[in-house]
Amino acid sequence: MHVYINSSLTPESEAKVSVFDHGFLYGDGVFETMRAYNGTVFMIEEHIQRLFRSASLIGLDIKRDKDSIKTTVYETISKNSLKDAYIRVTVSRGTGTVGLDPELCKEPTFIIIAEEFREYPAAYYQNGIKTIIAETKRNIKEAINPQIKSLNFLNNILAKVEAKKKDAYEALMLNAEGCLAEGTISNLFFVLSQKNKPVLRTPSVDCGILDGITRNIVLELAQKNSIKTKEGRFKKDDIYHASEVFITNTTMEIMPVCKVDEVSYQTGTITKLLHEAYKEKVRAYLQKSA
Ligand code: PDD
Repeated sequence: MHVYINSSLTPESEAKVSVFDHGFLYGDGVFETMRAYNGTVFMIEEHIQRLFRSASLIGLDIKRDKDSIKTTVYETISKNSLKDAYIRVTVSRGTGTVGLDPELCKEPTFIIIAEEFREYPAAYYQNGIKTIIAETKRNIKEAINPQIKSLNFLNNILAKVEAKKKDAYEALMLNAEGCLAEGTISNLFFVLSQKNKPVLRTPSVDCGILDGITRNIVLELAQKNSIKTKEGRFKKDDIYHASEVFITNTTMEIMPVCKVDEVSYQTGTITKLLHEAYKEKVRAYLQKSA
């Protein structure tokens, strides 16, 4: 495998960063995860746009433009002869000396890792995955804004550790006010009827979540398919009473949930319909990009 570091595609065994890199020392940096289908990176513009938003929210100058990043992502995929790929773009504050001051770092470190996409087991999509509601709360947005997709992932890792202890795949986090927020690497959706009509609900961005690119697509597809949606502040009890639950992200797309704590769910019709619509959207995107 070749990893893109700063200005060159480097063999994996030589792909190293300094121990004085502030990404390593302090988690000072940002990243994006993308997915390529048959050689095309789905929603690449939106991901690069969000990388710039994250960087701007921490005052980090990436020192490259969007087009050159796009070109480099494709060069990295091509060098590794990949079609279906997992792509991670990381930008750290760069190499400095110990000390928090970002000005100690003169140049950002820019890395692209692209590897073969590993499909999630089909059983996950058929039966759903187990989740828990973690004791670990989501970082409050006034401390570290979850809209910054930062290298500082300890909050999420602590929740993931809780999930693993309980044999669950994903941990759902509440915010400090006790409202549902998001998963450790995913956004959360559930169907809870109102006056006998199904309503697809998802925590609003002001609950302190990452406004996932997949989340936005799902909301758009729901509206197109005349499924009523509501972004808002929801409690544990709302999800315990839901008829369907699923999580979303770039690599999973739409992943049904079969359990939240002790409550069980079937993979429902709205989840299936939206996943089909999502796949169709991917197909249309690939066709347009061809
Ligand atoms: N994670 N919320 C969090 C905390 C995330 O880390 C992610 C994505 C999402 C979903 O965002 P999107 O739909 O844009 O992928 C929500 C990626 C997959 C990751 O951590 O690698």
